[in-house]
Amino acid sequence: MSTPKQIHLAAHFPGVNNTTVWSDPAAGSHIEFSSFAHFARTAERAKFDFLFLAEGLRLREQGGLIYDLDVVGRPDTFTVLAALAAVTERIGLTGTINSTFNEPYEVARQFASLDHLSGGRAAWNVVTSWDAFTGENFRRGGFLAQHDRYSRARRFLEATTELFDSWHGDEIVADKESGRFLADPAAGAFRRKDEHFDIAGRFNVPRGPQGRPVVFQAGDSEEGREFAASGADAIFSRHAELEAGKAFYQDVKGRLAKYGRARDELLILPAATFVLGDTDAEARDKAHEVRRSQVSGQTAIKLLEQVWNRDLSAYDPQGPLPDIDPDPGEHTVARGRASVRMHRDPLAVAREWRQLAEAEGLSIRDLMIRTSARQTFVGSARTIADTIDSFVQAEAADGFILVPHVTPGGLDEFADSVVPLLQERGVFRADYTGSTLRDHLGLRIPPPAGAAPREAAS
Ligand SMILES: Cc1cc2nc3c(=O)[nH]c(=O)nc-3n(C[C@H](O)[C@H](O)[C@H](O)COP(=O)(O)O)c2cc1C
Repeated sequence: MSTPKQIHLAAHFPGVNNTTVWSDPAAGSHIEFSSFAHFARTAERAKFDFLFLAEGLRLREQGGLIYDLDVVGRPDTFTVLAALAAVTERIGLTGTINSTFNEPYEVARQFASLDHLSGGRAAWNVVTSWDAFTGENFRRGGFLAQHDRYSRARRFLEATTELFDSWHGDEIVADKESGRFLADPAAGAFRRKDEHFDIAGRFNVPRGPQGRPVVFQAGDSEEGREFAASGADAIFSRHAELEAGKAFYQDVKGRLAKYGRARDELLILPAATFVLGDTDAEARDKAHEVRRSQVSGQTAIKLLEQVWNRDLSAYDPQGPLPDIDPDPGEHTVARGRASVRMHRDPLAVAREWRQLAEAEGLSIRDLMIRTSARQTFVGSARTIADTIDSFVQAEAADGFILVPHVTPGGLDEFADSVVPLLQERGVFRADYTGSTLRDHLGLRIPPPAGAAPREAAS
């Protein structure tokens, strides 16, 4: 029998959205450091590969009203990860930072610093951001259409790579006689000019323990997939179901060869939620309750408005779907004013939902509970361990980024019940064997691009 694939597991700090159940009596602060520390320590105790923070740079709004769940707030990613580096030792620290509203020099400096401070545990999830509202926070406004966001993301990643590689790792040499440290005069030099950037100078953070931080990508479109295949180390995907996961896995891994990359150089890690119970039946009951808590009547109307692209506040969430069709014009409800488009045709979605609602007698809220709530793994610890293992062995994923629905204790039960079962089967590490995130993920340290061969220091 061939050796089973090893599973990678990561912990997504609960999101500022309706997946997180704030009405749960166990729900705590989303801001206080103790919440982040508890969550990170639990993930590290369970020997997870990394902790993951998503990013949102503005309180979201719809119809002039802030989403009620967003007001829990979202502190700055680098500040949180740097603080977590000090209270953990092995777990990787992944931050989502967009390439649309930042500058390469600053982002490279922040990640290189985090990589040093954490002893080689930094990872960057490069996103382009989907809502145009966010741009209004920044001096350029909501300024880039989807295609231009990816073109900037590519150039941004190239520029930061050049910055990370502007130190080759052998610039600082101890002079044996004087005992002083001497720097290579070429250290940190960079120059870059393309359609998005015109920058030159000297980067002031030496190469970190991982060479470069691990790079994640989280876009799903054709462009997003190509971007990932060309340069990312891992993908944070939304395809956690078996068949969809297998199709996505094959698609993206199949794109690697043309970039001269091997299949194991890019890990596919879907986001996955879970609901545990003592038995499968108990877990199913709990999962039903969780879904109902995640989609209140008000949330259901907001979700429907995102497809209908209209103000539906006058509709009763307990009543039937609107008779009017979605507004096919420019999508302004949830994403702001710029031209960030929906992937699916809203009229087709409306048709599909009407048929479903009619066939099963569903109200607006029932339908939204049915169609919006993502519950990936539901069952006893054994069922969930079996399912995760079988999905990874079937190449639907290389592992999962778990999104608990309670902050900050939502991972505790998983760590205590599912992880030991995976360890018993020999498909998940019993302890860390390396110290960097690249070690945990089985990724090599990239040599500096274009590094001129250097004479070994004598
Ligand atoms: C699973 C997943 C997670 C994402 N997480 C974030 C995030 O935390 N912050 C953000 O600004 N954008 C996030 N995005 C948005 C992407 O960066 C991108 O802007 C969006 O998906 C549109 O690109 P696409 O058409 O290639 O999917 C995420 C996308 C996906 C698929």
